[in-house]
Amino acid sequence: MARPEIKTWQNLEAAFAGESMAHIKYRYFAKLARAAGDEDTARIFEQTADQEVMHAFGHLDLLYPAADITPAKALQIAIEGETYEYSEMYPGFRQTAVEEGNAAAVAEIDEQISESKEHAGQFKAVLEKAAKRFAALAKVEERHANHYQKALDAIQA
Ligand SMILES: [Fe+2]
Ligand SMILES: [Fe+2]
Repeated sequence: MARPEIKTWQNLEAAFAGESMAHIKYRYFAKLARAAGDEDTARIFEQTADQEVMHAFGHLDLLYPAADITPAKALQIAIEGETYEYSEMYPGFRQTAVEEGNAAAVAEIDEQISESKEHAGQFKAVLEKAAKRFAALAKVEERHANHYQKALDAIQA
């Protein structure tokens, strides 16, 4: 029997995906409406898109609680997501597009693969830099601790 909180987790992920898609779709529709000279329609889509971001954030507050998500964890999650995109998701989609003879989709997917790779690499670089910074800080802390210990030993001698 599925635990109800697990079903709710899946529902929150689905709701997050839906609100995120609505956000981007409305921004895209706004762009099209503006290009067609319909400023009123462009604006209502943009205003609503902004609210969809807040709806998506509401779900994320529950899926990735602020108390649990350090910058390092966030980078790790992002690296996993981008790596999944370029190593599993897009290669599979690319294969299907090739089989179906959809050259436009193949070209678009190839661009997405290289962008996802680039994003993963950038996140990795920032994470590694942060790890070095933490290691350096830990060394300074250790030096201070040793220094205090020596002072304490001198007093107690
Ligand atoms: Fe919404
Ligand atoms: Fe990306």
